[in-house]
Amino acid sequence: MAFSLRPKDVFDELRKTVVGQDDAIREISVALVKHLVGHPAPNLLLVGNSGSGKTTLMRSVEQFLSRTPGLREYANVVRLNANVLAEERQGYGKVVLGRLYANAKKMLGANASRDDLVRAVERGIVFIDEVDKIRADVRGEPNVRGIVAQEALLTLMENENVDFEADGDTFLINSAHVLFVAAGAFEELYESVLRRATLGQDVTPMKPVVVVSASGEVREELPFHLADYLKYDDLFRYGMTPQFVSRFEAIVVLNDLGEGDLARIFVEPEGSIFRTSREYFRRFGIDLQITRNALIAIAWDASRQKRLGARALRETFRRVIRGLEFEPAAAGVLTIDEDMVKRAIAARESGTR
Ligand SMILES: Nc1ncnc2c1ncn2[C@@H]1O[C@H](COP(=O)(O)OP(=O)(O)OP(=O)(O)O)[C@@H](O)[C@H]1O
Ligand SMILES: [Mg+2]
Repeated sequence: MAFSLRPKDVFDELRKTVVGQDDAIREISVALVKHLVGHPAPNLLLVGNSGSGKTTLMRSVEQFLSRTPGLREYANVVRLNANVLAEERQGYGKVVLGRLYANAKKMLGANASRDDLVRAVERGIVFIDEVDKIRADVRGEPNVRGIVAQEALLTLMENENVDFEADGDTFLINSAHVLFVAAGAFEELYESVLRRATLGQDVTPMKPVVVVSASGEVREELPFHLADYLKYDDLFRYGMTPQFVSRFEAIVVLNDLGEGDLARIFVEPEGSIFRTSREYFRRFGIDLQITRNALIAIAWDASRQKRLGARALRETFRRVIRGLEFEPAAAGVLTIDEDMVKRAIAARESGTR
């Protein structure tokens, strides 16, 4: 196939919705282009804290493929939660093939030939979210659901011929060319690798560094980046079986989002919190604005709630905006300023509201 799509084009497109994760976007762009041209593409495992953009990234790839003319026909994409694999009755990942098949039918139309359908399934792209929820053991106890789910995926990823049933027919599929992208937060993994790095177990112990934030606050931080310390071993210990993890050619660690990223996430992407809020106020003839300092204050507050990632923005903003949403001011310009944000944060801190 003559194919003019370049990884950089995919990267530029994905970056419009995913902020601060350029490395991950780069890897996924290359994998996608390889897959689409029929070159062997690496299966990817995305690891990143909660709210760092894993699901957002997968969703944005899905949207990119389905709304780009010329790609739609090649892009048989399904996204599912890893838990689904633990529940399936047919066993061994057939639910994934069934979804790819159903999707292929939708893409190619009711008159598609059997061969075309089979080909579309064999060239599918499978996103598996929340893959950290299918551990083979949890606190030393075997986790049957996790074992079942990991085995199901393994069967599909082992490049063997797999059969499945659909429309009362049996199909034999070679899954060697299906592209798998899995993602998970692996929360305790982060803690345990951090402990290893802080104690200096097999590595030089980390020393805290002094950082000055955009809001002028000075604090000590550990320069810890999971990507620098993560080993396959850590994933095995977490409860992902070696056979399973080794089917992923690349482990891609997403960054923890800093204040600058959070500020951009708050305003920039299509459907961002701020844009959505603007839409709401526009209905009342109000033009919602925000000052730069107010934006910095929101991002700063959200960045303190490390476990929530970008989801913290929603919590902070809700405190600022809820009164105004209930009782919008008269038509005109409504500007959120730093004071309003600080008051909302102070109210939370003093437990007033
Ligand atoms: N890097 C990012 N770029 C743009 N938006 C982001 C990013 N990270 C998070 N968000 C926003 O925060 C919300 C939560 O992000 P997302 O669902 O992608 O997190 P996640 O990494 O999948 O977390 P979890 O492990 O909890 O599933 C999304 O609604 C999205 O708008
Ligand atoms: Mg997610």
